[in-house]
Amino acid sequence: MDSVFAAVVQAPEDPILGVTVAYNKDPNPIKLNLGVGAYRTEEGKPLVLNVVRKAEQLLVNDRSRVKEYLPILGLAEFNKLSAKLILGDDSPAIQENRVATAQCLSGTGSLRVGAEFLAKHYHQRTIYIPLPSWGNHLKVFTMAGLSVNAYRYYDPATRGLNIQGLLEDLGAAPSGAIVLLHACAHNPTGVDPAPEQWEQIRQLIRSKALLPFFDCAYQGFASGSLDADALAVRMFVADGGECLIAQSYAKNMGLYGERVGALSIVCKGADVASRVESQLKLVIRPMYSNPPIHGASIAATILKNSDMYNEWKIELKAMADRIISMRKQLYDALSARGTAGDWSHIIKQIGMFTFTGLNSDQVAFMTKEYHIYMTSDGRISMAGLSSKTVPHLADAIHAAVTLPVRSKFEIYVASIFGF
Ligand SMILES: Cc1ncc(COP(=O)(O)O)c(C=O)c1O
Repeated sequence: MDSVFAAVVQAPEDPILGVTVAYNKDPNPIKLNLGVGAYRTEEGKPLVLNVVRKAEQLLVNDRSRVKEYLPILGLAEFNKLSAKLILGDDSPAIQENRVATAQCLSGTGSLRVGAEFLAKHYHQRTIYIPLPSWGNHLKVFTMAGLSVNAYRYYDPATRGLNIQGLLEDLGAAPSGAIVLLHACAHNPTGVDPAPEQWEQIRQLIRSKALLPFFDCAYQGFASGSLDADALAVRMFVADGGECLIAQSYAKNMGLYGERVGALSIVCKGADVASRVESQLKLVIRPMYSNPPIHGASIAATILKNSDMYNEWKIELKAMADRIISMRKQLYDALSARGTAGDWSHIIKQIGMFTFTGLNSDQVAFMTKEYHIYMTSDGRISMAGLSSKTVPHLADAIHAAVTLPVRSKFEIYVASIFGF
């Protein structure tokens, strides 16, 4: 009653994680969660990769392994292998010791450490993020003290890339501004620039001395190929310029809860990289002191052993292929129902998500009537679908787009009276 925290107000649920909270509360057995960005098998179950189980077994059997603290920057071997994974085996930046890498807490932690570093050591405090972007970007960068602007990215009319708007907005950005780029499998839209568009973006960014910050949460998950999905990052590193890269092993190794990731800062010379690395330690030490050992050891075990690495690539490709096949099945199911509209974006978009184009009214209808859960912007996780659940989703989409379109006034009244 008289708590010292009595004035604390109830915070809203996280818009993405809140979808799962609502899903968990729904007792209906046909319910379907397409909100969360985590891979599921055809049976709708979470997947632990075989190669991950193998690596864990090796680690457990090795009695020489201890549970001592890692250094502030984490497992050195993991850092080297992570930089190699994203930059390529023969990257001159690695050979010339121009890359400072820190093991961080998955993709989010890598973004946050990078943002904190930039807020302290970079002359520009403005970061441009795509519109739309992963919901946490705005919060991560704002909390680190950066000021966040948006650049046009998605074109609702074509359900594709607004390259013109993107180039105009970045062209108007102040010199030196930071630009957040999704390395592949853009979340939430599933729309990536084509290679020649990446080249246009690169030229503009370099000509205006903007600083690219790549968020690489889905390497290998988009196309099924680790190298193909690293194309954009490698284009930017090949020109000798500087950039930051946040990597996550949550999706591509299925290590979600282990929080395994890395921040790499590619610099122009080895001396700068070494000073940058020393300052990264000062950012990390008061934040969480040093990262956890287990997940990074699993990743390093897989990355350094060629048999395990090849096995990982096969399992990764199987996950990516299942998602691509879900796209095809959903598209076919909508075509078979004669659902109004053009749904070809479902097969054109890339990665874990489809930005369906359904509005928040239609999403609310699908949740209420069909017990299908997704974010209110109409994003669905293709990884959460299976051959068994595609017909149910197609029925729901068909019914939702057949609904009479309500006016803004009707939606407003309904939101007040709860119908
Ligand atoms: C675009 C993007 N960046 C970063 C992340 C961070 O994920 P994690 O912190 O689990 O690696 C995600 C996860 O959904 C994402 O979609």
